This record gives sequence, structure tokens and C-alpha cells, in this order.
Amino acid sequence: MKLPNITKLKKLKGKRILLRVDFNVPIKDDVVVDDFRIRKVIPTLEFLKKSGARIIILSHIGREKTDTLLSASQKLGEKIKHVFVQDFMSEEGKTTLSSLKDGEVALVENLRKWDGEKSGDKAFAKSLASFGDIFVNEAFAVSHRKDASVFALPKLLPAYFGPLFVDEVENISIAFKKSHPYLLILGGAKFETKLPLIKKYLDVADTVFVGGALANTFFKLQGCEIGASVCDVETNKMKPLLKNKKLILPLDVIVEGPSGRIVRSQEAVEKTEKILDDGPETVLLLEGLIKKAKFILWNGPLGYYEGGYDGATLSVAKALSQTTANAVVGGGDTVAAIEKVKSNKKNIFISTGGGAMLDFLSKGTLPAIEAIIKKKK
Ligand code: 3PG
Repeated sequence: MKLPNITKLKKLKGKRILLRVDFNVPIKDDVVVDDFRIRKVIPTLEFLKKSGARIIILSHIGREKTDTLLSASQKLGEKIKHVFVQDFMSEEGKTTLSSLKDGEVALVENLRKWDGEKSGDKAFAKSLASFGDIFVNEAFAVSHRKDASVFALPKLLPAYFGPLFVDEVENISIAFKKSHPYLLILGGAKFETKLPLIKKYLDVADTVFVGGALANTFFKLQGCEIGASVCDVETNKMKPLLKNKKLILPLDVIVEGPSGRIVRSQEAVEKTEKILDDGPETVLLLEGLIKKAKFILWNGPLGYYEGGYDGATLSVAKALSQTTANAVVGGGDTVAAIEKVKSNKKNIFISTGGGAMLDFLSKGTLPAIEAIIKKKK
């Protein structure tokens, strides 16, 4: 897939660039806990500043109107000087945005403060478009949505992708080439988003390991006790998948219950227990598979990561950091685990996308990509 890249454009001096990024980053006590998505767009901002463009950064954060980009703005401020515009519709906001000088940067408050963003409203997109000459999508992570700023807005202005976006698509697309042995590791929850992927990659990959909360649904379908564990609604559509020899489930799990935190074989979980992580035998199995693999695709933690059940996820991240195989990794907790084991190896591509990466892997494109490339055709 060839994407029009903003870095190929000459004469950006004085141009007003609407740069859509994804600063939907985790915040705790008003502080950004993981700035991966912010760090990744710094080179794009530096390029645009150097080119003399006037940059207006657009982003969403969270799903509530009250969620604010203020902490993200503070984090960004450590690297890029900018003004924060609370209300771009107000007279004050309009004046700030229209008086930006060459090389200056503004960050607009959470677009989801306005109903028009989520509903994909064309009038809302039009009001955003009035501030820019060129639209740049550098928000791969939200490009599976049809939100106004990624789907309607690019249709109203000359539209390009940022270098990070182009890099994401190039690297994730490696997953479409079959290099064997090919290992897919899927964890986390949200079965409905991952089911199409399991189905598709049972054809593409040699092994599909399903762990974390996702596996609980399969355990239940097999008739195993899962106690009070997180579980999605099982559907009959999933049953045939269990017969596929390429599908591998955890061999053992870590549970919490009246006997405390213990390791159990998958069949021995009791009614009063809750599965919270994959166990040591499963980790050994995965380490072996990772060692042998030529390509590894990984999305989703293998346990309740944010609750401190991160053992299996961190072990897999470590095993991955020791391989020479190409790997593509995505999803918030998965990326956090890779960063924690300090893997900066070139053979591992870390995507800023979670749901967007999954959708791109299942469909080979995303609505916000189509919004730009259909226009160019
Ligand atoms: C993400 O974090 O996956 C993106 O920012 C999209 O967020 P959303 O799921 O709230 O649309």
C-alpha cells in the first residue's frame, strides 16, 4: 500500500497544517503514565517546524467529554513548545490559531468534547477544516474509527499521512507475508474484536496462541470450570475453532481464590477461583515457540496486567527481546511490557495502535486510510 507522505511535499513554509495525532495516553493523578504515543510524533513535529509550517495538533483522549489533553500538553511541552487551546470555537481560540507564525505549534483540547467528532459530523469537520490548508493523519491508532477528524476532515483539504503512519502500515503489513514458522500471540479481552483475527490467522500462521482473558472463553466452551474469571459470551461460531490443531491455549494458569495466589492446570480451576495470569508451563511453551519462530505477531497481555498480574506478559516480552526473528507488537499493555524489558531491537516493530492494529490486520486497510487514498485515485 503506497501512502502519500507529507515529508515528500516541498514548500510547507507558512502552510497551516492540521496534524491529527493520537494522544489518547494513560493518565494517573494528572500525569502521563506512558508517553509512547507522544514520543513517536516528535520527529514529525520537528520536521514540520523546520519546514516553517504552522502546526495545529488535533487529538482525542478517553471517551468522556470531560477528559482533557492538559497532561498530554504538559508532557509534549518537555519537547515541543506550543500553546494549548481550550476552545477552538471561541473567539479567543480562533484568534490564537489564526495568529500562529511559521514554525509555531498549537494543541487543541480533546476533540471528543464536541459531539460532532464521534458522530462523524460533516459540519464539525468543516469548522476544523477552516483552520488549515493541509490535513495530515499521524493518528494510526484511531484510524479504525469514522470520527469526523479522521474520516470527514481529510475529504475537505489536501490530505497526507505522516511518516509515523507510513511506517506503521509498512511494518504491520509484514504480517501479511507468510514467513514460517509464523507465530501469533493474542491476549487481552474483547473477544468480538479478536475473533475475526483468530479465524483469519489460523490460515496464515503456523501457531495461534490465545492466552489471557480471551482463553477463558475457550476454556468454558471446552466445558472447563473458570470460576469467577473474566469471560465473554461464548458463541457456537467459536466451537469449530477448538478443533484446529494450530490453536493453542494456556497449559496452566495463575488463580486467586481461598487458597491464595496459586498455579493450577487449566482443568483444575475451582468455582471459587479467578484466573488472572498464564502459568509457568505456558510461559515455557511460549518461550520455545518464540525461539523457533521466524515471524511473531503479538497483541494483548496474557494476564490482568494493570492489576499487577504481569508475570507471563513480561516473560514473553523478554523472550521476544532475545529473538532475531521479525516481530510486530501492539496494544497498550503489550507495548508497556516490551518497553519495561527495555527492548529496543530493530527487529521488533512496536505499533502505536491497539484496536486499529487488529482491524488493519483483519481487513488490510482502515476507514481513515480509505478516506485519503480513495480521494487521490
Ligand atoms: C485507542 O487507544 O485505541 C484509540 O485512541 C481509539 O480510542 P477509542 O477506542 O476510544 O476510539
